[in-house]
Amino acid sequence: MRCGWRRQYERRAGPPQASSHPLGGQAQRAVGAGMSAAPGGRSLWQNCRVATLQAGVNQPYGLIDDATMVVDGAHLLWVGARHALPEELAGGTSQSHDLGGALVTPGLIDCHTHLVYGGTRASEFEQRLQGASYEAIAKAGGGIRSTVAATRAARTDMLLRSAMARTQGLLQEGVTTLEIKSGYGLSLEHERRCLQVARALAQRLPLTVRTTFLGAHALPPEFEGRADDYIDAVCAWLPTLAHEGLVDAVDAFCERIAFSPAQVRRVFEVARTLGLPVKLHAEQLSDQGGAALAAEFGALSCDHLEYLSEDGVRAMAGAGSVAVLLPGAFYFLRETKLPPIAALRQHGVPMALATDHNPGSSPVLSLLLMLNMACTLFRLTPEEALRAVTVHAARALGLSDRGMLAAGQRADFCVWALDHPNELSYWLGRNRCQTVVVAGQAVPPSPITN
Ligand code: NIG
Ligand code: FE
Repeated sequence: MRCGWRRQYERRAGPPQASSHPLGGQAQRAVGAGMSAAPGGRSLWQNCRVATLQAGVNQPYGLIDDATMVVDGAHLLWVGARHALPEELAGGTSQSHDLGGALVTPGLIDCHTHLVYGGTRASEFEQRLQGASYEAIAKAGGGIRSTVAATRAARTDMLLRSAMARTQGLLQEGVTTLEIKSGYGLSLEHERRCLQVARALAQRLPLTVRTTFLGAHALPPEFEGRADDYIDAVCAWLPTLAHEGLVDAVDAFCERIAFSPAQVRRVFEVARTLGLPVKLHAEQLSDQGGAALAAEFGALSCDHLEYLSEDGVRAMAGAGSVAVLLPGAFYFLRETKLPPIAALRQHGVPMALATDHNPGSSPVLSLLLMLNMACTLFRLTPEEALRAVTVHAARALGLSDRGMLAAGQRADFCVWALDHPNELSYWLGRNRCQTVVVAGQAVPPSPITN
């Protein structure tokens, strides 16, 4: 029986000292700090079982037993079975890590979150438990609008502080790349502020943050009855925010309680002129044909998808869009309509998973929990679930340099006190992540503040 992980891995030579790590020292005591220093030299990570997720490794999970990884700076130089390690790579490393048989996976990627906001919606949760529906609360002016009011009222340092605390929890559970959407500001000034906070997070914590502009999330009260005028405003803000370097992608909420396909199309047309990729909250509460529209714009992903039709699946397959499934929102809203998993499989649409962290429909801060829920609620296999938060999540963000462990990829990976990758979907509520490595550097544990 494999029990190697029970031995704490030892570092044979030159451990990455807290003081020498860019996260070390004072800033780490507060809320962590950004990786400003250049990553170190060459290091060897051995005596591990690596779930590479490479298509070329002909094993479930691309699993390599008794593996070795050679890291050079921020990237992987070599990954394979220990016995196959070329001699010239065995020497000349500045650090060697014996992982004691532990499991290694790619760093996890949370490809859909709304992590920057003020307030909570716990009282709305109570209302829903007493029978009010998510849509009814939204129509009555609550829902997203109540978070918009709380976000606008929050001080920027408090927005940053609460977002950092949430992000630190995700990081400690192995998330090394995170997408954050705006969409709770809904004015130029407040959307900018939320995107700036998202960018600031990446300066202070050792992970990649991708920002998505979601101005077309809900109609703010000052535009009541004037949805088309609001879309005009969103279309005007987008180039400004893009030129300020705040936008990596563009999203919208296509739904009865949000915006019509025709309105979303106008936003996407501006995104296209700016060369920005699009994504869409599509078919969450009803079938609006949003996925087909997004596919027309070559969307990176369509997200939620409970009401996705077969035509929508075909359109996504044709465009190469990823289906981002969000079991946290499905569970928390007590939805019963399942996304069309069989059709997505049949048409070869890659499936990703994300927390959809937000205060209204998914106050979830565990990506691992989403693996479990995807298996239990949506009947994904544990292997599909792991691919969904690595390879496919990377694709949903348009990132080709991560999501699997192979030569040339970023050295973002996690060391787990687990024997087999199927346990990532199996355990509930206990974090077995021992070490997170980002761009070749081990991230020291930092206290979660707030
Ligand atoms: O992804 N569906 C739209 N947006 C979020 C929910 C936002 C909210 O309720 O605050 C979602 O579920
Ligand atoms: Fe969302």
